[in-house]
Amino acid sequence: MQTTIAAAIRAALLECDPHAKVMAARKVARDWRLGRLAFAFDAAMPETPGRPDAPELLPPGKMPRRKGGGERGRIALWHALAHIEFVAIDLALDMAGRFGESMGRQFVSDFLKVAADEAMHFSLIDRHLRTQGSHYGALPAHDGLWSAAHETRGDVGGRLAVVPMVLEARALDVTPAAIERVRTMGDERGARILERILDDEIAHVRFGANHFADHAERLGDEPGELWKSLVFRYFHGSVKPPFNDSARLAAGLSRDLYTALA
Ligand SMILES: [Fe+2]
Ligand SMILES: [Fe+2]
Repeated sequence: MQTTIAAAIRAALLECDPHAKVMAARKVARDWRLGRLAFAFDAAMPETPGRPDAPELLPPGKMPRRKGGGERGRIALWHALAHIEFVAIDLALDMAGRFGESMGRQFVSDFLKVAADEAMHFSLIDRHLRTQGSHYGALPAHDGLWSAAHETRGDVGGRLAVVPMVLEARALDVTPAAIERVRTMGDERGARILERILDDEIAHVRFGANHFADHAERLGDEPGELWKSLVFRYFHGSVKPPFNDSARLAAGLSRDLYTALA
């Protein structure tokens, strides 16, 4: 019998080892693309995905402050980015596995593509950390990202509103400055990695915004109004400038929309 999409995604989510999760996420995406997985949802997504023993996960407020631009600050920056990408693999897998049945095949295709991209981002960053004598797991990491998503586990609109359209959109705003900083420190390879990630993230936000618009239309709601109400309900941070307007526009987010929230 053919493996189902839900069983394959669930298995990838439950992988604890980072390298195994990377391989599993890329394999699910590839198998789905090649028609090797049945569009069936006979397995539930786990409440919490598999996590390695390290990094230690701390509440966001308990994270040690990273100081300055020295070597330790630089490694802390890359480690934080590695963690974001690692959790992003699970967020994309969970999106496809949890909501794919109601949202359809294109939704699954899009978010498995995102999962494979995030796996690639994580690998690039972990490799870059290793060239600096560190690795993912060497420092503590904060535990806020998954919990932001977990609250929306019963509401695909809320999940799309918060994860791609707030959190990943935020990455579009802050990455250009990070690229500049990394380049100024003489780390050209690091700057290239971040440029590539920024390009991919524009596509991720666009997937989110498009599926959100479809979802709103099916509900008969105005997308902007629905987005605002879901962000108020589920997102506890603030949506604030400076915004990367050109990247946001390329991702299909209109300025009227997010400035209304700021
Ligand atoms: Fe990413
Ligand atoms: Fe992403």
